[in-house]
Amino acid sequence: MIKIAPSLLSADFSKLAEEIATIESGADVLHLDVMDGHFVPNLTIGPAIVKACRAHSKLLFDCHLMISEPQRYIDAFLAAGAQMISVHYETEPHLQRALQMIRDGGAKAGIAVNPATPAEALATAIEFCDFVLVMSVNPGFGGQRFIEPVVPKIRHISQMVRERGLSVEIEVDGGIDETTAPLVVSAGARILVAGSAIFGRKDRAAAMQSIRTAVSVLNT
Ligand code: DX5
Ligand code: ZN
Repeated sequence: MIKIAPSLLSADFSKLAEEIATIESGADVLHLDVMDGHFVPNLTIGPAIVKACRAHSKLLFDCHLMISEPQRYIDAFLAAGAQMISVHYETEPHLQRALQMIRDGGAKAGIAVNPATPAEALATAIEFCDFVLVMSVNPGFGGQRFIEPVVPKIRHISQMVRERGLSVEIEVDGGIDETTAPLVVSAGARILVAGSAIFGRKDRAAAMQSIRTAVSVLNT
């Protein structure tokens, strides 16, 4: 089954509860982008906003930590209600420990990888996670153009998962819409993050449905 994860980054921040209500019934996951102005050039939401949104949704909360020293904040995001937390491979020298902290807190642990980070970087680390978040844009902003060479990388990671018999899901984030979704799903992605292609459109239900329809013909 394909999971749709609208990214709140493209929503109207002056009315988050109302914005979440527009995707509540059609989405599977709510993707929350956490940025620190250090690892990435932008600043976005912290645990207080995640906690405030938690009261307005039953969706799975997926916190994508684009921050330096992510271990310092894992407990705060767990306490705020995150059920999936990803840390960037590029930010964390003690990745196994960070992932274990997430799992110990009862959430799914993910490794996020930038577009230029090769699949080989996951050779050992993939054993310690529940999902891999493959970035198909450089993290920091919504509305960027999909970087196509990540497609063979998704295929490679998917093959690694299959060969080792792991139950690791592949999530893809950046430039996903009804045109690019089939490319990443064919390569093995199962969780699709989309910001501008959902919150950037007036009819959110129709936007989510058109992504689902675009991938429904594929054999997944
Ligand atoms: C970018 C974020 C994404 C972003 C995606 O750094 O991680 O989640 O919201 O936005 P779109 O779907 O517009 O590329
Ligand atoms: Zn994200």
